[in-house]
Amino acid sequence: MSLQELLSAVAECRAAFARGCAEASEVRALEEVRVAFMGRKGQLAGLRAKITTLEGEERKHFGAAVNELQKFSQQQLNSRRRDLQRAAIEAKLREERADIDLPVIDRDERGTLHPVSLMRQKLHDIFTKLSFSVLEGPDVDYEDFNFNKLNIPAHHPARDMQDTFYLASKDEEERLLLRTHTSNVQVHALSEHRPPLRVISMGRCFRCDFDLTHTPMFHQIEGFVVDEAISFAHLKGTIDTFLRAIYGDGLRTRFRPSYFPFVEPGAEVDIGCVACDAQKLAAGKEPPPEARVGCRVCKHSGWLEVGGCGMIHPNVFEAMDIDSERYSGFAFGFGLDRMAMLYYGINDLRTLFAAPPEFNARLPIFA
Ligand code: PHE
Repeated sequence: MSLQELLSAVAECRAAFARGCAEASEVRALEEVRVAFMGRKGQLAGLRAKITTLEGEERKHFGAAVNELQKFSQQQLNSRRRDLQRAAIEAKLREERADIDLPVIDRDERGTLHPVSLMRQKLHDIFTKLSFSVLEGPDVDYEDFNFNKLNIPAHHPARDMQDTFYLASKDEEERLLLRTHTSNVQVHALSEHRPPLRVISMGRCFRCDFDLTHTPMFHQIEGFVVDEAISFAHLKGTIDTFLRAIYGDGLRTRFRPSYFPFVEPGAEVDIGCVACDAQKLAAGKEPPPEARVGCRVCKHSGWLEVGGCGMIHPNVFEAMDIDSERYSGFAFGFGLDRMAMLYYGINDLRTLFAAPPEFNARLPIFA
């Protein structure tokens, strides 16, 4: 072949190679193009073999053209390979993109805060408006704080009212237990702060009970006020105010004399049955007492017990080194679970602390 023919073969080869590269749509196809052009038996090798058929200046010229084609091909190949590899990675990323978001839950299926938490929030709002401070007390406490300093010495029969979970401990003097009521906060507050005090505290309590109306863990709100000249009228006014703020202005309340060792006098607090009083209100009139007969919520009494209260016992003040001649105070303790149940119309206490199986089945962790 003449030099002219060979040079045009180089040009053709160059154009064909460029086209082959451009047309290869993935790395594997590009590899085929490479083998066809640059492999041992490829077109480039064929052209290179022709070099020896020429002589002198022609040979030099053609040799240079072949070398240039080799360089060009290598560059083309590398750049196209890089592009294809990058495109492949991008396609893979697009395809295999993992959606790590949880599916959006329908508004109707979305949960809400627990009824007891909602009741806590309501009480928190009411009492902070009445300028009470909110304190936290320990769930695990010393016998001293839960009982002794509250005028409930060891072997006092009142301890039997609160079947207690004691923690195993070597120290007989400083026995630890799961608090049986939130009244331990009275002792903590009075030993850390001096009066005047207005405090509420809400939290878990524990008693070794388990039946339809008792669970081993339950919640209480404790409230107490200590100042000069605090009277039973303040106690009644405060309790009536917060109960009406929750259950409505028309709520009836009743204070029944009762015994708690850390108060004197003491009382239990009842509210008018929310179930029969609601019927009464719906009828728009004050019905005769027999209208209440038939209501199972209040066991036909028309009243529901919600808590205990009283004037703080002088012995409690003395145990805290507070002058009981100068200071007086009141305290109350209410069951938060019961308050939430009455407010939300929940009739089984146990549903507050158990999730139904069909609910658990919807959570991936239980599936
Ligand atoms: N601590 C009492 C209980 O759990 C309730 C109570 C609190 C009574 C404060 C009087 C004053 O039964």
